[in-house]
Parts: sequence; structure tokens; C-alpha cells
Amino acid sequence: MEAANLTVAITGASGVVFGREMLRALEADERVACVHFVASENSLRVMAEELGVSGRTQCLEKLLDASPQKATQYSDADIGAAIASGSYPSNGMIILPCSMGTLAAIAHGLANSLIARAADVTLKERRPLILCVRETPFNRIHLRNMTLAAEAGAVIFPCIPAFYNKPTDSTEMARQFVFRVLAHIGLPQPGAYVWKGKDREQGIGNRE
Ligand SMILES: Cc1cc2nc3c(=O)[nH]c(=O)nc-3n(C[C@H](O)[C@H](O)[C@H](O)COP(=O)(O)O)c2cc1C
Repeated sequence: MEAANLTVAITGASGVVFGREMLRALEADERVACVHFVASENSLRVMAEELGVSGRTQCLEKLLDASPQKATQYSDADIGAAIASGSYPSNGMIILPCSMGTLAAIAHGLANSLIARAADVTLKERRPLILCVRETPFNRIHLRNMTLAAEAGAVIFPCIPAFYNKPTDSTEMARQFVFRVLAHIGLPQPGAYVWKGKDREQGIGNRE
């Protein structure tokens, strides 16, 4: 991938720590040129609950704990932002975490907020759209909407972290999950845990 131009959205599902770690990883990645960031109105409430980050202003600074070098924040009401148009070149969009409400809006093409519109555009331009959905348990509407979105080209990448890497805390768990998402869109990360399996540990079937 050339210097990547990505869109990241955080919506009002539990697990905003995943979104924070995504922003941090992209800021640190030299292959990434710019990040368009949108936080839904409802995500602000969850950020306050889960991360103690409050207020609409300087959201990026608070999440990154530093001045953003690549990321720019847009209001979810700003349907005139560049990412609302397919003519604006983008390498894809990640919604992390993705609420069932936002999933429904995308699955049904509502395009009624910047997040839903940018996702709609990402699908119509056949660019990668990663929906890191979070809810439990799923009702039949959620399951149907996931199928609809997947049929339209989205990747359903649920916020289900791994445990075989023995994460020591929730931040590390979130970081490793984010690394899986980034590997999926062609940005493998240093420090990502890769399962080798017993065969490879013992050199069985290892052709390298
Ligand atoms: C603390 C908290 C946790 C929530 N967790 C979830 C969740 O895991 N999944 C979900 O779909 N909605 C969750 N919600 C509800 C959404 O925030 C709500 O449906 C909202 O309308 C989603 O709007 P948005 O998609 O525009 O962000 C949560 C709300 C709060 C306050």
C-alpha cells in the first residue's frame, strides 16, 4: 500500500479502548499519511464512562495523550467533509467499535451522518470497510444487518480479542486486536503476536 489515507470512526458501543489503540497505532505507523477521525455523538458518552475522556473538543489529543500528527477530527454532523464523497481518494474505513445502531444505518444505506455516509461511500467505491461490531448477545436484527453489510462488501470483524497471546491487561488485549485488524488491511505491525503452533515451534513442516 502507498502512504495510506484512512478513515477511523468510534461509535457508541462498549470497547472505545480498541478505537483509542487504533488511533495510536496509525499515528505511529510510517506507512500512514493521514487519518480522518469521526466520533459519533453517542460514543462521547461511552468514552467518558470507559476511558474518563470527556468533552467534544480536543478528543484526539485526549485519546492519543499527545498532539495528533496525522489525524484530523470531523463532526459526525459534517456531511460536507471530504470523506463524504467517493471522489476523495481513500484507502478504506475502520469503525471500531461499531454499535448495532451504526451497523443498521450502514446495512440499510441511510447515510444520515458522516460516519454512515463515509461507510456508504466506502462500499460503493469498493474500498475496504471494516466493521468491528460489539454487542452481546446478538438479536436476529443484528445478525441480519451483519449479513446485509457483508453482502455489500463490508468485513465483519467483531471485537473479539484473543487470549492465546496471554495479554497482561486490557490495553495490551486491545492493541493485539488492533494489530489483527491492521494486518487484515495490509498494514502488519511490529510486535503483533503470531501464533506458530506446536509443529512450527518444533520445526516440523517448517520449510524456511
Ligand atoms: C456505556 C454504554 C455502553 C454501550 N454499549 C453498547 C454496545 O456494546 N453495543 C451497542 O450496539 N450499543 C451499545 N450502547 C448503546 C449505543 O451507544 C446506542 O445504541 C447509540 O444510539 C449508538 O449510537 P451511534 O451508533 O451513533 O454511536 C452502549 C451505550 C452506553 C452508554
